[in-house]
Amino acid sequence: MNYGNLTLHIHGGIATITLDRPKVLNALSWDLVTELEKAAAQLREDKQVRALVISGNGGNFAAGADIGPMAERMPEEAKRYTFNSAFTAIEELPIPSIAAVSGYALGGGLELALACDFRVCSEDAKLGMPEIRLGIFPGAGGTQRLPKLIGPTRAKMMIYLGDTVNAATALEWGLCDIVVPGDPVPEAMALAGKLAERAPIALRRAKETVNRGFYGDLRSGIAAEEDAWASLFSTEDQKEGMRAFLEKRKPLFRGQ
Ligand code: HXC
Repeated sequence: MNYGNLTLHIHGGIATITLDRPKVLNALSWDLVTELEKAAAQLREDKQVRALVISGNGGNFAAGADIGPMAERMPEEAKRYTFNSAFTAIEELPIPSIAAVSGYALGGGLELALACDFRVCSEDAKLGMPEIRLGIFPGAGGTQRLPKLIGPTRAKMMIYLGDTVNAATALEWGLCDIVVPGDPVPEAMALAGKLAERAPIALRRAKETVNRGFYGDLRSGIAAEEDAWASLFSTEDQKEGMRAFLEKRKPLFRGQ
């Protein structure tokens, strides 16, 4: 099924979602994220589907939220357009999910991959949270899920500096689970195929139980992130950071 900004295919009990805005490295527009939430709702209802693979078209997973429409937002609007509802819908799917990451997985793109159960990366994958360079910080669950996964110090290093890490480092840190030389989708599909053979009710309950134990009170952490993140849209640094990206120049942050 073609949703417009992504495609959803279901075959042999395995669903694949392909993010499809390759000209902008699959930057996550509001329309795309809304479609993702609809696709998750569709999959939740489909009792034949046993596993999900999410990937990006054109050699990249996703280079983050679409910066253009975000640049001039004020806090109330920033809060209205967060991705948490869609990413939570993916995370809470009753089936296992795998992000197949090639090229860039940045900002909201990496946060989407973090909402999946597993990450299979190509050797060329570049993962990062570059938001600090735009005068903001990760606002789609990254401040909560990333430290849980790789530890607070490595997460702070990624979030404070905004540098990307390569697949080898991501593997060492537990940010990705399998690295393959080329396209990660076949490997992700093979893993999905194995998962699809396991007892689905037991698997679903295992997923719920691990997530509840691991994350604890994830929801209030995400709510705190959302408030602090949206408040940054009243700063000059956020406007400067995003305008600088769109004007293809280096930002000058004044701390205002
Ligand atoms: C809008 C984007 C984009 C983005 C890339 N593009 N990322 N447009 N939003 N996040 C566009 C570019 O403007 C360009 O369009 C085209 O995609 C190709 O990108 P280039 O920059 O020319 O490619 P390259 O030189 O290879 O650099 C790749 C890159 C760079 C390093 C990934 O594109 C980049 O830094 N992108 C922004 C990454 C980022 O800051 N992500 C975090 C976003 S904030 P044109 O028209 O010029 O060809 C975020 C918040 C999440 O994710 C929370 C939200 C609720």
